[in-house]
Amino acid sequence: MTMSPSKLTRIRAFPYSIAQQKCRNRACFLQKSGSPTVVSVLPCKSMAQLTEPDGTRHPQPSEFLRYLQQRMKSTGPISIAEYMKECLTNPYYGYYTRKEPFGKSGDFITSPEVCQIFGELIGLWCVNEWSILGGPKPFQIIELGPGTGTLAYDLLRVLKSIPQTSGQVSLHLVEKSRMLAKIQAEKLRVKLDFVDEHNSFQQGLSQIGSVPVFWYQRIEDVPRAPSFIVANEFFDALPIHKLQKTSSGLREVLVDITEDKSDLRFVIAHAETAVVRVVPPKSRERDHLEFSLEAATVLDDVSSRVSTDGGSALIIDYGHEGTKADTLRGFHKHQVVEPLAAPGETDLTTDVDFSLMKHLLEDKALCFGPITQSKFLYNMAFEQRFNALLRACRSSEEEERLAKACDLLINPEKMGGQFFAFSIVGYARSKLGPVTGGF
Ligand SMILES: C[S@@+](CC[C@H](N)C(=O)[O-])C[C@H]1O[C@@H](n2cnc3c(N)ncnc32)[C@H](O)[C@@H]1O
Repeated sequence: MTMSPSKLTRIRAFPYSIAQQKCRNRACFLQKSGSPTVVSVLPCKSMAQLTEPDGTRHPQPSEFLRYLQQRMKSTGPISIAEYMKECLTNPYYGYYTRKEPFGKSGDFITSPEVCQIFGELIGLWCVNEWSILGGPKPFQIIELGPGTGTLAYDLLRVLKSIPQTSGQVSLHLVEKSRMLAKIQAEKLRVKLDFVDEHNSFQQGLSQIGSVPVFWYQRIEDVPRAPSFIVANEFFDALPIHKLQKTSSGLREVLVDITEDKSDLRFVIAHAETAVVRVVPPKSRERDHLEFSLEAATVLDDVSSRVSTDGGSALIIDYGHEGTKADTLRGFHKHQVVEPLAAPGETDLTTDVDFSLMKHLLEDKALCFGPITQSKFLYNMAFEQRFNALLRACRSSEEEERLAKACDLLINPEKMGGQFFAFSIVGYARSKLGPVTGGF
């Protein structure tokens, strides 16, 4: 397949060297002194006057900064996980709660937004896994962190084209942001009903194939049934704890207010915090470690579902296999920014540590990958779908747009090489086929 090079680079998976260069004033580079130990002081620019292009004024970020400072004054430094949770999903000030960060005018772009083929092939992956399992009925698709709902939209179109799934499938979306849940419902053409069952906070029937759709805050609330679980750029948004080896052992890096009480800074906890005790033994040897308790909880739930209820999970994200240590970064208007700058106004993200995921899943489920997004999509017959869409183009401009988008998705120098696919299945599933589709 020949595709013209794309100039699109508005993705969050910036090469690590760039992120690190821009954020070199970071926790692991300075030594300790005092208690709690000061590691690094970062500027925290208030963007109080920020007004959206349509004139909307949001709660003032400086108000949020004051709220965080107040919290730290009364309770002391907070974990980076707590800081991320506040910044991303605080019900009033959180980045995902208030903003629609996707696309050209937002802060970043994700694969489903780049081209419909991405969501379609993930839909096919689900159907393939479902049929390998003997087509259990009823069954459910669970999507973690659906963003604007574009992936789910393309996936539902695929399900609609497969008559055997009709009336047998339901879609369960795990989303913290009520604002994004509303956007997802519009995208999926869901007429919302009164919520009267399960633990969902929103539900209704999609006009795409008449599939019932449910929304939840947490995966634990999704009912148990054979499940095909997909998560694109979800795990990178989950809060992490950062641990660092010191002469007294592994210690947690925390967020505190500066001595003059005007800014935020990183500090090292002088005593062992609870999270240090739950890190998997194999990872304790590292000098620096980013560990997400929330990701561990989600993985526990996912492995239990695929093992006991039947099903498979597909995670696509940027990440590494235990080779990186300090990947927390902020994104604002397609630029890498300091993670403590402008809390609530910037997206915060980390690289997913796939080796840690494998440790956490040991003895619980089978894992495949990580393999590059490029390899996964090619294995899922990307080229055939691309050619079919190319034939359907009505002008050379349309052809060029499609080629550029596909190049961004699969080129190993672009998203194709920066994102990785990882799959989790129950041990029983391995008897039905050696690997999951695409791997
Ligand atoms: C980077 S976006 C990815 C969106 C989408 N999957 C895509 O590929 O376009 C992260 C998504 O996860 C949601 N999210 C973030 N933290 C979450 C959490 N703790 N629980 C549930 N959803 C969360 C966000 O609201 C958003 O929908």
